[in-house]
Amino acid sequence: MKKLIFIANWKSHKTPQEATEWFENFARYIGRPTEDKEIMVCPPFALLDVCQKMAQKHTPFVQIGSQDISRFPEGAYTGEVSGKLIKSYATHTIIGHSERRQNFGDTDEVLLQKVLQAQANMLTPVYCVFKKDTLIPKGVSIVAYEPIESIGTGNAADPNTVEEITGFIKKQNGVSYILYGGSVTPENVSTYTNLPSIDGVLVGGASLDPQEFAQMIQHA
Ligand code: PGA
Repeated sequence: MKKLIFIANWKSHKTPQEATEWFENFARYIGRPTEDKEIMVCPPFALLDVCQKMAQKHTPFVQIGSQDISRFPEGAYTGEVSGKLIKSYATHTIIGHSERRQNFGDTDEVLLQKVLQAQANMLTPVYCVFKKDTLIPKGVSIVAYEPIESIGTGNAADPNTVEEITGFIKKQNGVSYILYGGSVTPENVSTYTNLPSIDGVLVGGASLDPQEFAQMIQHA
């Protein structure tokens, strides 16, 4: 049986209180997942601390990731969160999500610097691409394919197209794991996790509700 990775991307949602409740409830719904399922939660930066503590207490099998990383090392960069700081809480970092590419000027060049910062701090990048030929920096082992028109729209991508594109990306770039993201739900998750090239899912909206996220993991 292949290993499956489930990543919750909370985006800019939740307060410390809501994050606490999420973990308490998620622990109840998920029980003890089988070892072939790897689960990760990526909260906003300010919730990394509470999520790390709640995961340790209630769901020690849940890993923590950040949603972004500074392209600079620690230093005089007001407002930035360095890889060194993220490393205190997380094992992974999402890099290159389309919302960052679209709204925050994350170009391929910026994203390469972010990957280098992640690598320098022993954080595993989860590198997001939105099309077949999106540039992928060297050494990236986990890629998430997220077609823009499927993100947050309820319009999940055609599985045959997903298989074709992710199979191609995997071969071309020698990445170990490739995830699908874009309107994944407990109802459609297995359509994607059953695809030969797919190793998991990156989930936005449906990860905000602990019951829905747990169901998704169970249905995959
Ligand atoms: P969605 O978001 O599940 O809400 O479509 C996915 C993502 O942007 O990572």
